[in-house]
Amino acid sequence: MSEDIKKGLMGVTVDETAISKVMPEINSLTYRGYAAQDLCAKCKFEEVAYLILNGELPNKKQLKDFEKRENKERKISKSLINAIKSIPKTAHPMDVARTAVSIMGLEDKDASNNSPQANMRKVMRIFAKTPVALAAFYRARKGKKIIPPEKKLSFSENFFHMCFGKVPNKDIVKAFDVSLILYAEHSFNVSTFTARTITSSLSDIHGAITGAIASLKGPLHGGANEEVMHMMNKIKKPENALKWINNALDNKDVVMGFGHRVYKSGDSRVPTMREYFGKVAQIKKDKKFEKIYDIVEKVMIERKNIHPNVDYPTGPTYHLMGFDTDFFTPIFVISRITGWSAHIFEQHAANKLIRPLASYNGNQHRKVTQLNQR
Ligand code: CMC
Repeated sequence: MSEDIKKGLMGVTVDETAISKVMPEINSLTYRGYAAQDLCAKCKFEEVAYLILNGELPNKKQLKDFEKRENKERKISKSLINAIKSIPKTAHPMDVARTAVSIMGLEDKDASNNSPQANMRKVMRIFAKTPVALAAFYRARKGKKIIPPEKKLSFSENFFHMCFGKVPNKDIVKAFDVSLILYAEHSFNVSTFTARTITSSLSDIHGAITGAIASLKGPLHGGANEEVMHMMNKIKKPENALKWINNALDNKDVVMGFGHRVYKSGDSRVPTMREYFGKVAQIKKDKKFEKIYDIVEKVMIERKNIHPNVDYPTGPTYHLMGFDTDFFTPIFVISRITGWSAHIFEQHAANKLIRPLASYNGNQHRKVTQLNQR
């Protein structure tokens, strides 16, 4: 392969961004200049969503207005509810998220308006309605009554309420909020780059987010948090973990929840999420997954020098919170809508069509023979 080819765009800088900075050399991540850990400690998810979308942390009034707006947009249309009810129960919820955003695009009165003001209106609707659509599917596929959103509840509380019919204690809600903050934004990852690529042809925001959801679904990206849980379920108990992980490495298997294209000595989001995973395990009085977690991590670092990424602690945390495994990546979606949207705004503001080149390695020029001679 020619040396000019940068397979997977590895190490290639394709544009500028002011939204987040990933700093693998000092194991840090900032959103608009604020360290993600600092935001986790001092803010709720809504404040961080505002920051990512607007560039500054909100004051009290700005936050109240933002929450009011998000609250107002939560209701989903009857036709979307009917569509969700008619989706096969076996469908993956990521495909439901993709379809729901697509249907929202069909219904949005600003659909063909790409102005910054219209785009912000559309984002607020996608941000507020996607969790509602997902929770509706969570219940509908179990044959349970769909629970409408509750205005008085925060973004995270409302998601628990719509899925389970109750809100857990505040420490569990905080752990969920922290996971949303850590998932909200991460520079030019695959799904964000997908959203920017779609936007670069001046296509619409619902299309860009639909494409980003499809991209996030893959197990090498957001889908890894579900794969981590499948792996832990296969391991079953801590006593099996050492043998399991050594076998996996002997077989040269890819171990989900480990490794990262940018962080090579540890994902900056992991220590914070690991701490909250521990808190949730303690509240739930279930230490099994923590023990498996620690054994697998130790062997991965000792044998391969490969560290966990954020999907490693979020997987078992969501499991302990009671979510079905195939809802882990959709939870990632409801948070990352903020990051994707900010990147879509940024792409629009200084657009250049994304159109790379390819080095052709197929057949040389040849003549077409008529069908009856082939
Ligand atoms: N398990 C075993 N070996 C690994 C792993 C892993 N998880 N990750 C990397 N390696 C090995 C890989 O086999 C390769 O070895 P060799 O040089 O001998 O062929 C070497 O490390 C370099 O890996 P790579 O796949 O070339 O690196 P990449 O930058 O292309 O891939 C990655 C990054 C995230 C796709 C990869 O680490 C991976 O497949 N991880 C598992 C999936 C996962 O957890 N994804 C979540 C990513 S971060 C959060 C998110 O986006 O949701």
